[in-house]
Amino acid sequence: MGTIDWANLSFGYLKTDFNVRSYFKDGKWSTPTESSSETIELHMAATCLHYGQEAFEGLKAFRGKDGKIRIFRMRENSLRMQSSCRGIMMQELPNEVFEESVLKAVKLNEKFVPPYESGAALYIRPLLIGISPQVGVKPSSEYLFVVFVTPVGPYFKEGFKPTPLVIFRSFDRAAPLGTGTYKIGGNYAASLTAGHKAHEMGYSAVLYLDPKEKKYIDEGGPANFFAIKNNTYITPESTSILPSITNNSLMQLAEDLGMKVERRPIPEDELGSFEEAGICGTAAVISPVERIDDLEENKSYSFVKNGQAGPVSTLLYNKLRAIQYGDEPDTHNWVTIL
Ligand code: PLP
Ligand code: COI
Repeated sequence: MGTIDWANLSFGYLKTDFNVRSYFKDGKWSTPTESSSETIELHMAATCLHYGQEAFEGLKAFRGKDGKIRIFRMRENSLRMQSSCRGIMMQELPNEVFEESVLKAVKLNEKFVPPYESGAALYIRPLLIGISPQVGVKPSSEYLFVVFVTPVGPYFKEGFKPTPLVIFRSFDRAAPLGTGTYKIGGNYAASLTAGHKAHEMGYSAVLYLDPKEKKYIDEGGPANFFAIKNNTYITPESTSILPSITNNSLMQLAEDLGMKVERRPIPEDELGSFEEAGICGTAAVISPVERIDDLEENKSYSFVKNGQAGPVSTLLYNKLRAIQYGDEPDTHNWVTIL
């Protein structure tokens, strides 16, 4: 495997030894089995290639100071993948198959779980695709579930340093009653043009507005939006955003810290009143927001004074990471120890 520079990993693909696969055929899922191949042989008319029958997940495994490996909220990812399956008529994967495959993939690639001191993690990427041939627009009858893993560093190269976001009124990521609540490839294809434009302009991500009225905050590229005001954690309620497991965890931690938690539509006009803002997700953890520019409306909202993340975001970030790495007790039973 050569030597890996654990402390300087980016969020990219690094080959590991094994992935784990299960097929749905003749009404049942096969026993998850290891493979050392990085490729999949597919029928050219497979529904995943033509009609977007593809869902994926993202979760992480962390190595603690005690050397143990901890997987964060695996059951939640399994439940969300089942919801994605219902959303695009794919065969739902049982929790047992999801969890057995994730555990197996991590165990088989144990040596790729970064050391505690590096602050890096093992990213786990489960994916589910329709593989039977169809030419009419109909769901597949056969499916393939794969779990691969890869060691990763921060999603945004700045890590926990605040970065700017941009609002584009000319792009939506998902329709008001479309597939935005599911973790399916099509949503990410739909976000590529806007994301690329944002990066070229020096922004770390797009902050999407609600696609119906263009009045409320939806979410930030690959992560949910949250803000802090008057000891309150505020995050959007919307029919076109992904229910983030990180966001759900931060809401709980904010409550544990005695803060109020509000989940409600957030009008763009309210941005000016927030003390702190951030985007959160498995890959992004918390990425503090420095500034939001609404270019077409010629508006800009700033959340950072000295280039540093605010105190509440910092506290939440440290709490979440401490639970993930096993430095603090797992009082909510979020962690599976391998
Ligand atoms: N929103 C989108 C669009 C995402 O792709 C992700 C990443 O998974 C999130 C939010 C954050 O979700 P989670 O915290 O479950 O990783
Ligand atoms: C994650 O946070 O796990 C994601 O899937 C975000 C992105 C890499 C698509």
